[in-house]
Amino acid sequence: MHRSKPVELPADQVTANGLVLQKDPTMIVYQEHPWNVGAPAECVRQTFLTPKERFFVRNHSRVPAVDVQRYRLTVTGMVHSPLHLSLDELRAAFPEAQVVATLQCAGHRRKELAALRPIPGEIPWGAAAMSTATWRGVPLREVLLAAGMAAGAQHVAFLGLDMMERGGEPFAFGGSIPIEKAMSPETLLAYEMNGESLPLPHGFPLRVVVPGYIGARSVKWVTNVHVQAHPSTNYFQEHAYKLFPAHVQAEQADWATGQMLGELPLNAVICHPQEGERMAAGPIRIEGYAITGAGGQIERVELSVDEGATWTSATFLEPSSPWAWRFWEATLTLPAGSYELAVRAWDSAGRTQPQDARQVWNWKGYLNNAWHRVKMVIQEQPRS
Ligand code: MTE
Repeated sequence: MHRSKPVELPADQVTANGLVLQKDPTMIVYQEHPWNVGAPAECVRQTFLTPKERFFVRNHSRVPAVDVQRYRLTVTGMVHSPLHLSLDELRAAFPEAQVVATLQCAGHRRKELAALRPIPGEIPWGAAAMSTATWRGVPLREVLLAAGMAAGAQHVAFLGLDMMERGGEPFAFGGSIPIEKAMSPETLLAYEMNGESLPLPHGFPLRVVVPGYIGARSVKWVTNVHVQAHPSTNYFQEHAYKLFPAHVQAEQADWATGQMLGELPLNAVICHPQEGERMAAGPIRIEGYAITGAGGQIERVELSVDEGATWTSATFLEPSSPWAWRFWEATLTLPAGSYELAVRAWDSAGRTQPQDARQVWNWKGYLNNAWHRVKMVIQEQPRS
């Protein structure tokens, strides 16, 4: 893992479309192949909408070469009229919609879990696998209604154009969502991100955007939508992205018993101060964001410096938006000393976050939403 020279799509992934995306030089490159980058925590909250240069990238394989002239989206499975559409046909035939949504990888904040017990073979994301955009595209429900779903349809599965291999077998990245979420108006087949055509690493020419769900269900370079009675049997649905209890270790894990991940939990993160920061005594500004996956509202964000004995409420910078993060800030005045600052959020259903990351530890390192903690030092003011 390193901070990079100006980050650029590796040369072997640049396609004839020339859609090279220069990432911000502050981005952390977790892996070059496949290309996985995230923003350092202090940058994650710079702007409510994340510019494409600072949007995290999570790939499981090489970014595919895409020829938009030959690109087709097929809609198959338990439908009355299968569809076969070019990008232009999709845009012409269906109404457009827009949603502001935060994408979050299931591995966001894995680093804190890995510090408790090692999680080998997984990217040690800090609080960096999260970004927000305005997505524009066609609601998936419109396409499903046009295809006409047959009785018994329960899940909608997606396949991307990127190919990978497990056990010598090549296959495309895929996953599925329940039919109710697929028919919900916020779920899009998106061709634009923040008012521009999708950059290639983010799924050009078309990606699924499933607000409130783990990022893995927002399949990039989507080429097939398949209506079926059961969840996808793709490796990334049936094996990876499953949640196991804290007592299960890699050696005993029985994939069949893991819980398939979908909706994201409530979460809150401190972006300023950063871990280990030293600050002068006097009022200090604490800044961060909170998010709820269930499409509810973030109602309250609280900060504690005494392990939850007392809390100070933060104020919000903007109204709650159902599928996006919410920025907050608070001012604390503390005497000189060493502190561990903790944050927790509450949502409109009265839910809050677990206190201790040990309660949510799991051997794949998913969905860490324990109180986010930052150690900081308040220094004596020099006498004048
Ligand atoms: N879609 C395809 N086809 N291939 C992938 O590797 N990664 C998924 C999802 N969609 C992935 C994919 C994961 S795990 C996440 S978190 C999001 O894309 C990340 O989207 P981004 O790279 O645009 O930030």
